[in-house]
Amino acid sequence: MQLRKEAIISLHPDIVHRSEPFGGVLFNLETKAFHPVNEPGYRLIQLLDTHPSVGQLESKIQEWYTSALSQPIAEAQAEDICTMFLDELHHRQLIQGYPQEDEVRPPNPSTTASPLPAHLKLKAPLVVSLSTLFTCNLFCTHCYVGSTSEIRPDNFTVEELCQILTRLKELEVFDVVITGGEPLLLKGIFEVLQHAKSLGLYICLNTNGTIVTPRIAQRLRDIGVDCVKVSIDSANAAVHDRFRGQVGAFRRSMRGIAHLVRAGVRTDIHTVLSVESTGSEQDIDAMVTLAESLGVRKVHFGRLFSTGRGEDQQKIAQAHLLRLIDYLEELKMRNPLIGRTPSKSMPCVPSIPSYDGCGGCARGVYAYISYNGGVYPCTNLYKSEWLLGNLREQDFTGIWEHSPVLADLRTRLSTVSTSMGEAFHD
Ligand SMILES: C[S@@+](CC[C@H](N)C(=O)[O-])C[C@H]1O[C@@H](n2cnc3c(N)ncnc32)[C@H](O)[C@@H]1O
Ligand code: SF4
Repeated sequence: MQLRKEAIISLHPDIVHRSEPFGGVLFNLETKAFHPVNEPGYRLIQLLDTHPSVGQLESKIQEWYTSALSQPIAEAQAEDICTMFLDELHHRQLIQGYPQEDEVRPPNPSTTASPLPAHLKLKAPLVVSLSTLFTCNLFCTHCYVGSTSEIRPDNFTVEELCQILTRLKELEVFDVVITGGEPLLLKGIFEVLQHAKSLGLYICLNTNGTIVTPRIAQRLRDIGVDCVKVSIDSANAAVHDRFRGQVGAFRRSMRGIAHLVRAGVRTDIHTVLSVESTGSEQDIDAMVTLAESLGVRKVHFGRLFSTGRGEDQQKIAQAHLLRLIDYLEELKMRNPLIGRTPSKSMPCVPSIPSYDGCGGCARGVYAYISYNGGVYPCTNLYKSEWLLGNLREQDFTGIWEHSPVLADLRTRLSTVSTSMGEAFHD
């Protein structure tokens, strides 16, 4: 294919990137897909930040190769390398402006995320879930935190939360999920969110939505929170209320979502697939219809994991769950409202029977910080045996680099094959 030399290429607006010891990593804030690249590739990625034309890219490639090989390379060779590079980025949905409009080809879904080889370590997680508060106004049957109405004396202070956010920014974490408990119950939550946004962090707030008023919605909008994700587990009010442990929760969450949408806050829904919430194709259809009627941007579906009160929950049988995931993946091709769906390849680790993760922790993709400073590899692994360290005693990097628990987990998981190339988190 002949590229137009004057065509301007840039990274897709959802793509962010940072350098890594092996080169760099790109991350899609919308899909949470990530892509490791080697050093020469990362130099080209950085060049894309300057919105170069194809001609300028080709010249740069010719210049770099000539200097690396200590002998000139032909213009045609530089053009071929450039085409290969742009082709790959286009197929991974990382760039815009290529190919030219009249040549648009559909992206190849199988290459939209790239697993991180086991020998490559990220310098810091891509996504961090930060639990701001243990306390909650609901009592969900599945809650991995085990939240109740209790106020825990060892809960983070607002000052501590702001310090942690500053550190996460220094570590170039791409995506911070503000969670709980119910984060909107935290006195000072707006100060925390304001601080995060003043640092330029991408912030998603997870909430049950029951206490969102028009004023709160407007505040979130003014602060510039990037996304508010409201948990709705069934389109059937009675089922949702039973799952969430409170009569009227569904009605209040619906009202909360309406306030958010009206205020112009990007609002998504998160639904847990389980026997007692959304567990069939019909339930999924009903949830999608509900989401459409509410005007939210996306509806995400997650699987139930066996942590906290989730341990006692009946799980959907594996074969049925795989069918539901197939169903969701097919729906997703037709309906852009469907956001993230569970991965089909959950590794089973015989040497760690209690392991209930997706394999991402082996690559250092996520971290979960509990309301009292505990650092865990993931929300799914929020159990005392997976505690890596505490931020009140140690800096994040010290924990991430030197925790023997994490080192052992990574070693054991390095033998497990996973197609993991996505990082999403609650
Ligand atoms: C712990 S809650 C905290 C934020 C807020 N209270 C809420 O409910 O959205 C964050 C998300 O985790 C989900 N969650 C809780 N326990 C879970 C479990 N055992 N398995 C899967 N998801 C779970 C909730 O449904 C919710 O979407
Ligand atoms: S899932 Fe959220 S709303 Fe439900 S009890 Fe846990 S923290 Fe509260």
